[in-house]
Amino acid sequence: MTDRLRVAVVGGGVGKQHIEAWQQLASLYDLVAFCDVDPGTAEQVAAKYGITTSATNLNDLLIRKDIDLIDLATPPGLHVEQIKAVLAAGKDVICEKPLAASLSDIDALAEAESVSGRNICPIFQYRFGGGFQKLQHLKAKGVLGRPYIATVETHWKRLPTYYHVPWRGKFRTELGGCLVSHAIHAHDMLMSILGPVANLHARTATRVNPIEVEDCAILSLEMENGALAALSVTLGAAEERSRLRFHFENLTAESSLGPYDPQADPWRFLPMHDESQARIDEALSDFEPGPLGFVGQFKALHAALTAGEPLPVRLDDSRRSIELFSAAYFSASSGDTVALPLSKDHPAFEGWPKIDA
Ligand SMILES: NC(=O)c1ccc[n+]([C@@H]2O[C@H](COP(=O)([O-])OP(=O)(O)OC[C@H]3O[C@@H](n4cnc5c(N)ncnc54)[C@H](O)[C@@H]3O)[C@@H](O)[C@H]2O)c1
Repeated sequence: MTDRLRVAVVGGGVGKQHIEAWQQLASLYDLVAFCDVDPGTAEQVAAKYGITTSATNLNDLLIRKDIDLIDLATPPGLHVEQIKAVLAAGKDVICEKPLAASLSDIDALAEAESVSGRNICPIFQYRFGGGFQKLQHLKAKGVLGRPYIATVETHWKRLPTYYHVPWRGKFRTELGGCLVSHAIHAHDMLMSILGPVANLHARTATRVNPIEVEDCAILSLEMENGALAALSVTLGAAEERSRLRFHFENLTAESSLGPYDPQADPWRFLPMHDESQARIDEALSDFEPGPLGFVGQFKALHAALTAGEPLPVRLDDSRRSIELFSAAYFSASSGDTVALPLSKDHPAFEGWPKIDA
């Protein structure tokens, strides 16, 4: 394998943003093919971005020897089988969220990854936001102190037209609602700072649109480190906003408020004590966030695949999200508080109850 990896993108929705990111990294990646099951999309997207090969069937890419990495930006219900097919073809895979709808499927993917000797990199590009990178840096420098409590608000607006895309709004094809599709990034950010969840209680409701999946949710979490967190999600907000607030022993961290980029600067870091301000200033004085968003994740992926650096996002990170959904749906339907981790004999290990509705 050469240092410049050959990549193919599958799916022409958010996949177009991926294409722009791959093309910004032209010294690291050669974008050689684009695939979409819809022939018009396949042709138009390839032409727009100057991609020489277009295809309408993933298998046409899998048989090619001149592709190292496949980027799956297809509807969620296809991810598990497509990831397995890419690995079986001997290629690395990067895949949009959510990867799967059960821990058993995630563990099957881990097995397929191990057997193939290739890599699965789930997409969590919010981790590469400029403001959020500062919080990660403050954590790595030991500035935060003990975590007390956090809140995450994901308050977005989705009108009926959003559900005209046939895969949306149904458990079988979207895999879930606002928890699985919309708040997944913010909740991943929370867990990547506060660590594993010890137990949770959840309520979900469908109140905004006439769909099968939830569009409102409230989760109450106790983390393994003892911190508490409250997560609020709706797709019925007149004014869209996302916000994460973390209260630590030494500082309060508050995200920016853009609905789709709360990970971006400016974040506010408010000291609890005078000496905390000095430590924050010192830690951030020479800190420059790395590349942002998809570009940041794709660049770090190149270092992992070519230079033995750790994967920027690992299957375990996706597993943690899927475990959160599994426990949340179980709690919402049973009324129980659910302890994590979920063992193989827990009913939620095989997915959430409404998946076959
Ligand atoms: N990371 C993010 O911020 C982000 C943002 C939006 C969407 N997503 C995720 O990206 C995925 C795609 O969402 P979207 O909004 O782009 O959907 P979309 O419906 O707009 O686009 C999906 C594309 O995939 C194509 N497709 C469907 N089946 C295919 C197949 N078998 N082979 C090849 N192409 C196929 C469709 O024709 C369509 O063009 C979802 O998993 C979604 O959750 C992530």
